[in-house]
Amino acid sequence: MELDAGRCRIRPFGERDVRGLARAGDSLAVWRGVRDRFPHPYTEDAARKWLAVVDAMEVVSHFAIEVDRELVGGIGYTRRNDVERYSAEVGYWLAETHWGRGIGSAALAAFTAEVFATTDLERLDAVVFDWNVASCRVLEKCDYRLEGVLRRAAFKDGAFCDSRLYARLRSTPTR
Ligand SMILES: CC(C)(COP(=O)(O)OP(=O)(O)OC[C@H]1O[C@@H](n2cnc3c(N)ncnc32)[C@H](O)[C@@H]1OP(=O)(O)O)[C@@H](O)C(=O)NCCC(=O)NCCS
Repeated sequence: MELDAGRCRIRPFGERDVRGLARAGDSLAVWRGVRDRFPHPYTEDAARKWLAVVDAMEVVSHFAIEVDRELVGGIGYTRRNDVERYSAEVGYWLAETHWGRGIGSAALAAFTAEVFATTDLERLDAVVFDWNVASCRVLEKCDYRLEGVLRRAAFKDGAFCDSRLYARLRSTPTR
């Protein structure tokens, strides 16, 4: 996938991204918003391991977000299986230095459109910690709809918190 999302580009990860991933991803503020499998601290070794995971994917579903040729984050989807095999969870993160400039919204909007255009997925969803107003807003701006609150479903950073489930269906009208 190579996408021009306006404020950023979405492109495949490559071996050259070890340093960029460790630089952009090594942040407590980023880690607090995502699943625990996202490393903290984000070392170059952790970056190499992630790149090996992506490299081994049969269908590559995780990509780099780039601004001015610099890696500033990541975006991807994880497809479910069995009866949920036509749905996937999306995830995204940005280096703190690039927050608040519309990059997250631009990346998710372009990525969502491209995933629906190039796969048979029927549904994309995201689970967001309830305090993560920026991510909720990004999802709403990209026409993901709030489907419910998963009470105390997540245990993150030493505490339980509620999660919000957002989803967008293939058939949702685009802007
Ligand atoms: C979530 C994340 C990707 C957002 O990226 P971003 O580029 O900063 O987001 P955008 O600039 O596109 O949009 C953020 C929106 O949230 C709003 N926002 C941000 N903080 C807010 C707050 N505390 N209260 C209300 N609105 C807030 C912004 O005003 C903006 O909305 P607007 O365009 O209507 O003004 C980024 O914060 C991040 O990487 N966080 C850590 C990882 C993470 O949480 N990932 C998501 C997991 S579900």
